[in-house]
Amino acid sequence: MLNRRDFLKRMAAGGALVATSQLPAVAEDNPAVFPQRGKYERLSMSYAVVEIGLEKAFSVLHISDTHLTAAYFHENEKKQQLTQKRTTTFGGRQEEALRDSLAWARQHVDYVVHTGDIIDWQSEANFDLVKKYFGDGLIGSMGNHEFSTDMWLSDPKEERTEAYKDNTRAKLQSIYPFNVKLYSQVVNGVNFVTLDDVYGYVTEEQVRLFKEEVKKKLPIVLCMHVPFFTDTLWRATVRFWTDKGPLASGKLPAITGDYKKQTEDPVTHDFIAYLKKERLLRCILAGHEHITVEDQFSPTCRQYLVAGNFLFHGREVLFV
Ligand SMILES: [Fe+2]
Repeated sequence: MLNRRDFLKRMAAGGALVATSQLPAVAEDNPAVFPQRGKYERLSMSYAVVEIGLEKAFSVLHISDTHLTAAYFHENEKKQQLTQKRTTTFGGRQEEALRDSLAWARQHVDYVVHTGDIIDWQSEANFDLVKKYFGDGLIGSMGNHEFSTDMWLSDPKEERTEAYKDNTRAKLQSIYPFNVKLYSQVVNGVNFVTLDDVYGYVTEEQVRLFKEEVKKKLPIVLCMHVPFFTDTLWRATVRFWTDKGPLASGKLPAITGDYKKQTEDPVTHDFIAYLKKERLLRCILAGHEHITVEDQFSPTCRQYLVAGNFLFHGREVLFV
């Protein structure tokens, strides 16, 4: 088990979770939004307790999908176009929501995990915000939007492949202070493993690295952007994104997209089957779908999705 001092030392080297005491100072709460409400009521929080049997309990704020949409004036025309369009899409309060979340975290929990899409697309301004808020210490995993150079204006065009990621992987690795493919950090005897699965699949290299982590024989919390779908998570996803497949009908909507990929890609299919039997896996934290929903993943593991941080969502997870 890492003591606090060792933990903080490791944080300085860059880690997946940041101790809330190490979060950078932020401006006071902005009273312009919901001014009559309580200081932190602007956050829409949900809660979960993960029972592991720890000597020392601790808690984590899980956030995801902030979708920052900043661009400097000196950045190119594509970035200017994107900042205009996508700021409208996400409401324009994304940075404020992130700041509120981190301010809340500093007062209420021990660590923060962010499961990707902190930025909506790559820009100098967005990368500077990532560095500003997470400093040396983040937090989490890549999202599919981390790899997007210019959304629909991208050149080369976005492809959901490792080769496409390779175009900017080194750049991202220089900004985000954790191994963007797979990273592990042990907190109070719990191994937080963060993973890039942003197009729904995992690679053989990641499977091998994960199995190395299992050898530590510690309980594992897997943090990643795209969930490993169950039928329940799929129903909720389709309901939210297409307004089809009402939950009440009992009929499972057609399996497409990332869920289909997970059933068809042999490496990912086998990895998920293996994970379902791995009793050290105790919890999965994911995002991407912009909905708060949870489901049992395996006999020992529950999977929690958290809705968009751009809409002030977060989940406090207590590990006991
Ligand atoms: Fe996403």
